[in-house]
Amino acid sequence: MTPCLLQNTPYKGLFLLILIFVALEYIFNSSSDIRGAIFNTTKSRNNNYVPLWKSLWFKENGTNISTNLRNYNLNSSNSLDYIVTPFYVIGNATSMYSENDIISTNRPSCPDISQYLYGKVHISKHPVPSVQTLQHRFAWLRAGGHWSPLNCTVNKKVAIVIPFRCRAEHLLLFLQHMHPFLKKQQLDYTIFVLEQDNKGPFNRASLMNIGYIEALKLRKFDCFIFHDVDLLPEDDRNLYTCPEQPRHMSVAVDMFSYKLPYPAIFGGVSAISTEHFKLLNGFSNSFWGWGGEDDDMSNRIRHHHLYISRYPIAIARYTMLRHRKDSPNPHRFNVLKKGQKLFDRDGLNSLTYEVLMEKETLLYTWILVKLKPPPTR
Ligand code: BGC
Ligand code: MN
Repeated sequence: MTPCLLQNTPYKGLFLLILIFVALEYIFNSSSDIRGAIFNTTKSRNNNYVPLWKSLWFKENGTNISTNLRNYNLNSSNSLDYIVTPFYVIGNATSMYSENDIISTNRPSCPDISQYLYGKVHISKHPVPSVQTLQHRFAWLRAGGHWSPLNCTVNKKVAIVIPFRCRAEHLLLFLQHMHPFLKKQQLDYTIFVLEQDNKGPFNRASLMNIGYIEALKLRKFDCFIFHDVDLLPEDDRNLYTCPEQPRHMSVAVDMFSYKLPYPAIFGGVSAISTEHFKLLNGFSNSFWGWGGEDDDMSNRIRHHHLYISRYPIAIARYTMLRHRKDSPNPHRFNVLKKGQKLFDRDGLNSLTYEVLMEKETLLYTWILVKLKPPPTR
């Protein structure tokens, strides 16, 4: 398995600099309260990878964050190697919702559609902002990557779930773009980053299922938007809400010449109500590696006599951030075919995972998970 540190060759220089920085810090600094943008990756001298929670970076006011680890066997060999997460320790994080929820009972309902929408929005891909820059710029956020209007109550609460691994730069660009975008839409929203540890192939669908389950433990969300980290919406009239039917949001992507690749596509960005997601039994957990899981969801939607709704192509436009194309999972068509009989057995009710770490940073709620590896073929 290639560690994510080495996957992005264009960023090698940057990573090298960070490594030098890490090494210097390691030598000169052992216990201070560390705050700032941290791209974590720590390697011990004898070539055994030091788990992130052991690294000196993970200290908050002198307390090691490892106390936050849940159900994780600290002595196991499954250390949290190589995970590159822009991590920032927030000093005095208040609970993300409580205060706001209390006042909310006395406020009028917000209008269904915000009055601050313009249409086309600017997309910025360079430079990649630092975590500190974003923290200062978005000081209006509440812990966990949450915001809601102050003078009115939004009836439907939205969770944005991002399946994630090894895309730190994309995440920063995404957050830079999305927080103002969602605020302008006057939503009550929270951004969740579901990071898979570095074991085994990526499972986008399982991460989204876990995002759903874990988010609902924190708050009664009404609507889930499942969002690839590399897609930035170009028009603020593309509302991040859940309509009557599941909505495929990323209709027109620049990389696909702003054309829908095929009518049943459900990948990229999609919105499903909490209720419907439960009815559909979430996504299938059987798609490992790139592709297919969204097509299976498309089948589930049809099977349950729901349909995919979409905004017009002129509104549902997205810019995709550049990355190396992942090699598609060659088994996905088989899994897709077999999956048609498994909708009620493979999904939310068959999910096996472990939360390794959960943390409310100012910009997002971060949930690091370990999945049960796929059965060997
Ligand atoms: C894959 C989907 C993907 C689509 C567009 C299909 O072949 O199975 O997962 O969304 O291509 O890239
Ligand atoms: Mn992509």
